[in-house]
Amino acid sequence: MVSQLDKIDKARLPLHIAIIMDGNGRWAQEKGEDRLFGHYQGVESVRNIVEGAAELGISYLTLYAFSTENWDRPEPEVIGLMGLLAETIRQEVPTLNKNNIKLRLIGDINMLPEDARLGMEEGIEKTRNNNGLTLIIALSYSSRWELVQAVKAIAKDVKEGIISEEQIDQDILRNYLATSEFPDPELMIRTSGEYRISNFLLYQLAYAELYFTDTRWPDFGKEDLYEAILNFQQRQRRFGMTGEQIKRKSATDMH
Ligand code: IPE
Ligand code: IPE
Ligand code: MG
Repeated sequence: MVSQLDKIDKARLPLHIAIIMDGNGRWAQEKGEDRLFGHYQGVESVRNIVEGAAELGISYLTLYAFSTENWDRPEPEVIGLMGLLAETIRQEVPTLNKNNIKLRLIGDINMLPEDARLGMEEGIEKTRNNNGLTLIIALSYSSRWELVQAVKAIAKDVKEGIISEEQIDQDILRNYLATSEFPDPELMIRTSGEYRISNFLLYQLAYAELYFTDTRWPDFGKEDLYEAILNFQQRQRRFGMTGEQIKRKSATDMH
């Protein structure tokens, strides 16, 4: 098979890719296996995609690993996922360091069982001096949770006189989000054939290009990532302007 890698324009990579890693459970059930088996295989895809993104020179990769709503799943699945998470993070820290990858987390870390929380905190601490790919894990994350946190923090700062109501604008609001240090995703990928956002980065995805594939997450590999990036590169991002304006702008930007 010819790789799509050579067709990618390395000068026009998305700065930030966000992925809803969906379909582990169905992938396993279709094989007559337990859902957890799918999550284990899903970790393999995480390894491949993180490696692929780092090799390409992507700056930010956000992976939606567990949503606020996922806490409502059957207990054995939640416990299994948390165990898998703690184990994986600990195992992967040397590889993250070898590949100069900085680990970050967005989400309600206090909800995590201690082992998973400590594993994440250690991973973040041990990789904090790396300056290659920033790998952001969305864990016990949901956009509505994040927005409520932001609104509470803003209200508190207004009350304490740290900021005034008049100062609140889009940039201030952005500073209070869990993603304040990261640029907005330019490309959002969802696997497994579902066409929804499921409470993921509602604010930050305002102008992201959305890419949906039927491939289940455990089957999603580097070639699938290249395919998504190629698809992204064929789109015209207009940000509310007309196609002609964008063409003129990119012609002048080139000179
Ligand atoms: C995504 O796969 C992983 C998590 C949400 C933790 P799912 O577990 O949602 O798999 P499906 O969608 O049920 O197949
Ligand atoms: C979204 O997948 C969350 C993650 C991938 C972590 P879900 O499987 O939880 O989403 P819904 O329930 O199908 O919308
Ligand atoms: Mg799912």
